[in-house]
Amino acid sequence: MDKIKVAIIGCGNIFTMHATPVSVMKELSLVGVCDIKRERAERAAEKFGSAAFTDYREMIEKVRPDAVHVCTPHNLHPVITEYALNHGVHVLSEKPMSINLEDAIANVKLAENKKLKYGVIFQCRYNDASVFVKRALDSGRLGRIISARSVLTWCKPDSYYSLSDWKGTWAKEGGGVIIDQAIHSIDLVNWFIGSSPAKVYASFANRGHKIMEVEDSAEGLITYENGVKYGFWAMNNYGCDEPIEIRLFCEKGKVELTYNDAYIRYSDGEECHVRQTEDTLVYEGGKDYWGFQHIKQIRNFYDSIINDSEPEISGAEALKIQKIICSIYESGRTGKTILM
Ligand SMILES: NC(=O)c1ccc[n+]([C@@H]2O[C@H](COP(=O)([O-])OP(=O)(O)OC[C@H]3O[C@@H](n4cnc5c(N)ncnc54)[C@H](O)[C@@H]3O)[C@@H](O)[C@H]2O)c1
Repeated sequence: MDKIKVAIIGCGNIFTMHATPVSVMKELSLVGVCDIKRERAERAAEKFGSAAFTDYREMIEKVRPDAVHVCTPHNLHPVITEYALNHGVHVLSEKPMSINLEDAIANVKLAENKKLKYGVIFQCRYNDASVFVKRALDSGRLGRIISARSVLTWCKPDSYYSLSDWKGTWAKEGGGVIIDQAIHSIDLVNWFIGSSPAKVYASFANRGHKIMEVEDSAEGLITYENGVKYGFWAMNNYGCDEPIEIRLFCEKGKVELTYNDAYIRYSDGEECHVRQTEDTLVYEGGKDYWGFQHIKQIRNFYDSIINDSEPEISGAEALKIQKIICSIYESGRTGKTILM
């Protein structure tokens, strides 16, 4: 079988989490890397034995990839996704799909019309702790979730924003701690609950940063159609990147989850625990609070191309968290409860 030709657009921080898995999967060939900053594209191309480009349109034209990974600033995700789909190329986009809902919906429809795969990275669903909790919930042993909470305290000081030409701006990042960081914890809880959100009431503010426009703190309550109440709190004024914390209060037990560990304490006294197995791949520049499970989601994405099945986290699946994120911002801006 011919190798699947892959190209990666954006050679910044997250690039290595995509390029390393692509380079070790024998059925894939990394045919191009692209960054508007030429030296980044050239360094990446040299390291991974690929061709360097500074314009993704030219790259798609010249190397004709079967799939592209979109690892650029948020505002460009839907633009590049649309371009690639219109040129017959499958897309695996970094989170978020878009900084608004309309473009995300449009690209899900476009991918369906073109019969192309569209996946969106939410690698934390592949952490051992997340899988363990999801399986326990699906087995019914915990009963129904009654309420949930998540806490995220990360460290993104002013220097994090001053070093970036897009982070911290409404126009390019589309928000702050919610769209960029807490999106993972909110996605996990929403996936665990497995019902549709009915309403969102949230607030956000910039409480500790001097140089950026977007929020560094947010809290809110999401009420689900099945009655679950989920409260979240996130801020990135903390002194270090602590693992996120999720708690679930269920009919027949309680769950406590961080990135690396999950504890389940059943009401009948049984307790179980799982710890993340260490990853054997080395990702230069990878950070442990991201989790190292990109490789599992990338594996699933290419399996979906090979087997012509839906990727586990398809555009349609990712729309669920996109709707929540957009509703959090709408509620925070208007001070109103948003009915979903
Ligand atoms: N899944 C995760 O846990 C995780 C972690 C970190 C970042 N991310 C996501 O990865 C994406 C990139 O974040 P980052 O931290 O790597 O940012 P970054 O700023 O380090 O990298 C983005 C790169 O895109 C390049 N770029 C900008 N416009 C371009 C264009 N038109 N064509 C080609 N390249 C272009 C920039 O020059 C830069 O090198 C974001 O969506 C971010 O949310 C995800």
